[in-house]
Amino acid sequence: MRILTGLQPSGKLHIGNYFGAMEPAVKLQDQGEAFYFIADYHAMTSMTDASALRENVRELAIDFLASGLDPEKATIFRQSDIPEVNELAWILSTVCPMGLLQRCHSYKDKVENGLDANHALFAYPALMAADILLYDANLVPVGKDQKQHLEVTRDLAGKVNDKFGEGTLVIPEAQIKESTAVVPGLDGRKMSKSYGNTLPLAGNMKALRKTIMKIVTTSAEVEDVKPTDGSTVIALYQLFADESAVQTMIDEHGLSGEEGKGYGYFKQQLFDAYWEKFAAIRAKREELENNLDYVHEVIANGAEKARAESTKVLDRVRGIVGLR
Ligand code: ADP
Ligand code: TRP
Repeated sequence: MRILTGLQPSGKLHIGNYFGAMEPAVKLQDQGEAFYFIADYHAMTSMTDASALRENVRELAIDFLASGLDPEKATIFRQSDIPEVNELAWILSTVCPMGLLQRCHSYKDKVENGLDANHALFAYPALMAADILLYDANLVPVGKDQKQHLEVTRDLAGKVNDKFGEGTLVIPEAQIKESTAVVPGLDGRKMSKSYGNTLPLAGNMKALRKTIMKIVTTSAEVEDVKPTDGSTVIALYQLFADESAVQTMIDEHGLSGEEGKGYGYFKQQLFDAYWEKFAAIRAKREELENNLDYVHEVIANGAEKARAESTKVLDRVRGIVGLR
């Protein structure tokens, strides 16, 4: 089985990315041939600052390794090191109906959130399909927001196979874990870089604690019973704590009067659990920051391994469609 996923280097990795894509990717690297990449072409749809892009790529490479991706097991690479992906995206574009792209929520959301409505943003799903199909990937671990893009990918692969013959492209499956499908952000909406409501994976303790203290809650006072349904603090706590600890927090929301607990108390518990969960990753990050040569070497080796695969698939496709 071949597993593949990509993350955009468009800002600091947040816990939505971690639980939605990174953690599943780490688990899956033991179960097949894994390809994990830094989607820098994609990030160009939302950022134009070259040095920021370079820095984000480096930071994401560090995050990949600190989170437990192992270059001995997985091929870790940068999208733009394999420019052939653009050729496959072009080939896919020739079978891609405009309507399919017009229906994509992500494009509409991004434009509503202020991104330029340019061709790259519109054609993004075709490039993403090429990312996946260029490696004959079978399984793609992603968060729920990418479900539609995976459907587009399957659709395009199916169209190519219908036109040029079964087996031209491998049709992949998405893997979306229900429990972490949508990690809520500080304001209760989906956690996303574009909403500025994220909790980063790593950073300064004081700042991160402050970020957690900013989570939006009801205006219930310490002595009031607090609602548990729709509580972002509880939803996030579930990602870090075991069932009994979560149950205790839920029960404590029901306390009132003298026994009542304030939101600051619950947020502190969330902070403690979060801080502990990422302790090892923070330590590994620090180590890698002092060993950037190693990080660059991993990415360079990854490019070589990825290209060995991508050229095989692209040669096959070129022959079938008549480009060779
Ligand atoms: P963002 O929305 O912050 O820009 P990306 O689009 O770069 O994040 O997402 C990278 C990966 O992380 C994708 O697989 C995506 O589905 C997953 N992901 C992003 N936000 C969340 C979230 N809030 N909950 C679960 N998974 C998420
Ligand atoms: N579009 C994905 C995101 O925003 C990132 C991505 C690009 C990706 N290419 C991919 C994810 C291929 C999985 C497979 O999160």
